[in-house]
Amino acid sequence: MTRLAICPGSFDPLTVGHVDLVERAAALFDRVVVAILVNSDKSPLFTQAERVAIVREVFAPVKNVDVEAFDGLLVDYADRRGAVAIVRGLRSATDTDYELSMSLMNRHLKPSVDTVFLPTAASVAHVSSRLVKEVWRLGGDVGGLVPPVVEARLRAMRAMDAPAR
Ligand code: PNS
Repeated sequence: MTRLAICPGSFDPLTVGHVDLVERAAALFDRVVVAILVNSDKSPLFTQAERVAIVREVFAPVKNVDVEAFDGLLVDYADRRGAVAIVRGLRSATDTDYELSMSLMNRHLKPSVDTVFLPTAASVAHVSSRLVKEVWRLGGDVGGLVPPVVEARLRAMRAMDAPAR
């Protein structure tokens, strides 16, 4: 039996913290689906198609990782995919509060899909998509916070003088 786990999120943008989490999940489970939430933010940095393309490119070398977009309830998607677990990273006590209530709600909705928490690597515990977005929008350097492919796209976006999204 293939034990499949879902790594869900907005991934706007994908950060080095996400990469650490997905790679560790891929070492624990037979297959991992990185599930990108559609329309999570009214003013996303990257479109859904861009996020899917970026995440696919970054995880292309990891053979047991697939990438998909999803909409609606996460537990319904996880159930359709036959997942045994949802994997989420924990950076802090604040994360724990939020993640615990989300996992309990998900378990209430679909007891067959459990949540597995992985403590984030200490070296990336300060990294979040929200802060990366803020730093970038204010002209800061996001090198080392996101994979090189994301950094290159952000640099190109700035070079084109794209209006702040
Ligand atoms: O990267 P994020 O924004 O922290 O990811 C949050 C995500 C996508 C995991 C969460 O918002 C989610 O599961 N959304 C799907 C809708 C859903 O199932 N909501 C009920 C959660 S208890």
